[in-house]
Amino acid sequence: MNNGVVIIGAGHGGVQAAASLREEGYEGRVTLIGDEAELPYHKPPLSKSFIKDSGAKPQILRAEAFYAAGSIDLLLGETVESLDPVGKQLKLVSGGSVSFDKVILATGSRPRVLPVEGGPLAGMLSLRSIADARAIRALAGEVEDIVILGGGFIGLEIAATLSAGGRRVTVVEAQQRLLARAVAPVVSAHVAARLAASGVRLLLNTVVNRIEGDDGHVSAVITSAGERIPAKMLIVGIGVVPNAELAAAAGIQTANGVRVDAQLRTSAPDILAIGDAASYRHWFTGADVRLESVQNATDHARLAARTITGHADTYSAVPWFWSDIGDMKLQMVGLTGGSDRQIVAGEPADNRFSVFHYSGPRLIGIESVNRPADHMLGRKMMGAGFSPDTQSVAGGSDALKAAFTDWQTRQPAPV
Ligand code: APR
Repeated sequence: MNNGVVIIGAGHGGVQAAASLREEGYEGRVTLIGDEAELPYHKPPLSKSFIKDSGAKPQILRAEAFYAAGSIDLLLGETVESLDPVGKQLKLVSGGSVSFDKVILATGSRPRVLPVEGGPLAGMLSLRSIADARAIRALAGEVEDIVILGGGFIGLEIAATLSAGGRRVTVVEAQQRLLARAVAPVVSAHVAARLAASGVRLLLNTVVNRIEGDDGHVSAVITSAGERIPAKMLIVGIGVVPNAELAAAAGIQTANGVRVDAQLRTSAPDILAIGDAASYRHWFTGADVRLESVQNATDHARLAARTITGHADTYSAVPWFWSDIGDMKLQMVGLTGGSDRQIVAGEPADNRFSVFHYSGPRLIGIESVNRPADHMLGRKMMGAGFSPDTQSVAGGSDALKAAFTDWQTRQPAPV
């Protein structure tokens, strides 16, 4: 028992897991393996400030001194080739091997590849890593017309950023509305109207059937409506797939990601999985989920460290997520899959409103546009299990806060 914990993946989840192990008093070796050569960095700015400003630097998650101070062995630029859960050893593509007592799989997800005729060509890019962001930033400085495939979070954040920077941007979205996976129709409509007003062209219910190239570089896309849109840059943001192949090849159970229990243990003893790569039955809804968010990754990381240090807590975080699309700060809390009633507070016309989702009498989620107080209160209310009535929601933030405080004072004191 002296090989310690090896964390595979140095994104938000992996780095937090290393930090949390030390915070929980873990004294064994901690090794963090990442396949990028860069010091681990924040991903959310990549689709916003980083591609907007050619001089923007990566925002690192932790200074280099943090890893040394915590005796965290950082293996950067190393890819894990295979994992042997029985022999407790993993192999690196570079040839070495690393022994472990426990592994935390924090392998994340990768952009889904576009199944289309004509690709791949230079100028077709997706965004996940800082290398991707550098490529987008460099090419965006040279082109006028940009097509973005996918009206989800990544596509719309990039569309707003590049359009504000003077590019002609067209978003091609397969569904009838933007952000259909994540938000209510009223939010989709609001985002669409505002982006359109700022000059982004939106094509809904549309896919790209063919990509045309010129000398190996993308030059135009042909849509399912038969339109030819010239573009020297095509950004593909059509969702992500979990990096679960390493686990699957090691005989670990997978189903839309690496399956984990409420303590984040996989089907293999001593191997845990966290973040985008992990799928699990969510305490909040009882449904199987795989969540793609910084919050999910970092809260998982904290719990994985607790599991490894012998605690029996189970995952109980309230999911939340945010996205900045132009002048819209979208914040989401809860899981709204079972929503059967929505109450809108505030005015979309003011670019400030929230949608409260209910399943029967239970508040299951809130989507806010520039109403951060609703979001913050929502996290507290849902964490406590409180569902406000319609009147309190319609009464605005103060009424809501008062209703929550009143409810809290009526709760029995914990024994
Ligand atoms: N053509 C056009 N649109 C498509 C196609 C296609 N062939 N296939 C899928 N889409 C659309 C979906 O309908 C959806 O609106 O692409 C969008 C993908 O949106 P998301 O699922 O939000 O994924 P993405 O925007 O790629 O973001 C990936 O990055 O911001 C993080 O964690 C966040 O989960 C998010 C992840």
